[in-house]
Amino acid sequence: MLQFLLLLPLVFIAVAKPQQLPIHDSSSLLTESDSSELLYLHRKLIEIESITENEEKLGKWLASYLRGKNFTVELQEVSPHRYNLLAYGKKRETSILVSSHIDTVPPFWPYYYNKTSGVIGGRGSVDDKGSVAAQIISLNGLKEKLYDDVSLLFVVGEETGGDGMRAFSNLKDRPQYDVVIFGEPTEGKLVCGHKGILGFTIKVQGKAAHSGYPWLGVSANDIMVEALGKLLELREHLPWSEKYGNTTMNFGKVQGGVAMNVVAETAEANIAVRIAAGTPKIVEGLVIGALKNVKAKAEELGGGLEIEWSEGYGPIDMSCDVEGFEKITVNYGTDVPNLKGDHKRYLYGPGTIFVAHSDHEALKRKELEQAVLDYRRLIIATSMMHHQEHVEV
Ligand SMILES: *[C@@H]1O[C@H](CO)[C@@H](O)[C@H](O)[C@H]1NC(C)=O
Ligand SMILES: *[C@@H]1O[C@H](CO)[C@@H](O)[C@H](O)[C@H]1NC(C)=O
Ligand SMILES: *[C@@H]1O[C@H](CO)[C@@H](O)[C@H](O)[C@H]1NC(C)=O
Ligand SMILES: [Zn+2]
Repeated sequence: MLQFLLLLPLVFIAVAKPQQLPIHDSSSLLTESDSSELLYLHRKLIEIESITENEEKLGKWLASYLRGKNFTVELQEVSPHRYNLLAYGKKRETSILVSSHIDTVPPFWPYYYNKTSGVIGGRGSVDDKGSVAAQIISLNGLKEKLYDDVSLLFVVGEETGGDGMRAFSNLKDRPQYDVVIFGEPTEGKLVCGHKGILGFTIKVQGKAAHSGYPWLGVSANDIMVEALGKLLELREHLPWSEKYGNTTMNFGKVQGGVAMNVVAETAEANIAVRIAAGTPKIVEGLVIGALKNVKAKAEELGGGLEIEWSEGYGPIDMSCDVEGFEKITVNYGTDVPNLKGDHKRYLYGPGTIFVAHSDHEALKRKELEQAVLDYRRLIIATSMMHHQEHVEV
């Protein structure tokens, strides 16, 4: 009965005001105003170039956009001319934080929207401006009490190691959150975790000589080839897990020597390990063990082999306890481990990682709209879970 009464006015409106057919590709999943605001915001975000280190202009535009929507916006200077944005409504301390990054990889690609196919492209259309736009618009549909319990954080520098998120994490007076929802391209699926990473550089020192008299020198390239051979063997025996699969190792950049007819004096290799189980320390130990004999031999010959390690992390588990989402794990790194704290972490976003960073980065308008609904759903579900947990305690 109640339902019937509620439906009546809606039916009346629908009859009284015939719906206008949208002129573009197909019907929208959102209200007309959310849909057009989403397209507008997404377009502006892409049109303002924001390759890492050059985020200032977009940051300022977005701050003024959000202030226009009555958010309080705090700018945090990460390095000169580079700002994180923290936005919130009535209160600064909120239970939920929704976050993504405003920087992109180079080069810039201009915005386009093909209304026939519904495809929207351009640099950042997926990674990560699709998430930024959808997250902002998703708040529109929330009830006031929940709306006021959500903050937005848009950071710089995600693509080059996460200095933005780390700066926010280290901010002395920053709020602590119960739930943080991160946005990265996940094809509209909820991510239950991602692999860890460890980067390292092998530096080999040899001794130059004429290539006709190689015994007068020490070939850094020979030593490097041997070292990489050992790592190829090791690669088959790295830790793995059911959840994340195999740990993988990529010889991303290898260079050595100066010319065909010179015994190579130096060689260098940059290698990234995507960790499926265990810790960076364990992988470090395995690599050192695998290269022990090569290193000893290099030193015996009067050369050397050193390894420099980047700061790594093990696999990052995330919550994926919200029903109605397809669930996956991913192999790329994110800002998730860069935000310290005791919060539940979620990772979701529109578009696919397989076109992110490419010259054909694009997604469909429908995916963007679905993301608005999904972020809204995530916020509502995680807030309900959080409050239930509090009641139980
Ligand atoms: C912002 O707040 C002002 C003053 O309360 C109000 O007039 C205006 O409509 C609000 N704007 C938005 C976008 O909510
Ligand atoms: C837009 O998409 C349609 C359908 O996929 C395609 O035929 C058309 O060539 C596209 N237009 C442009 C300008 O790329
Ligand atoms: C993991 O590595 C093993 C051994 O190299 C291989 O047989 C298997 O197919 C790999 N699994 C995946 C998911 O790649
Ligand atoms: Zn990203």
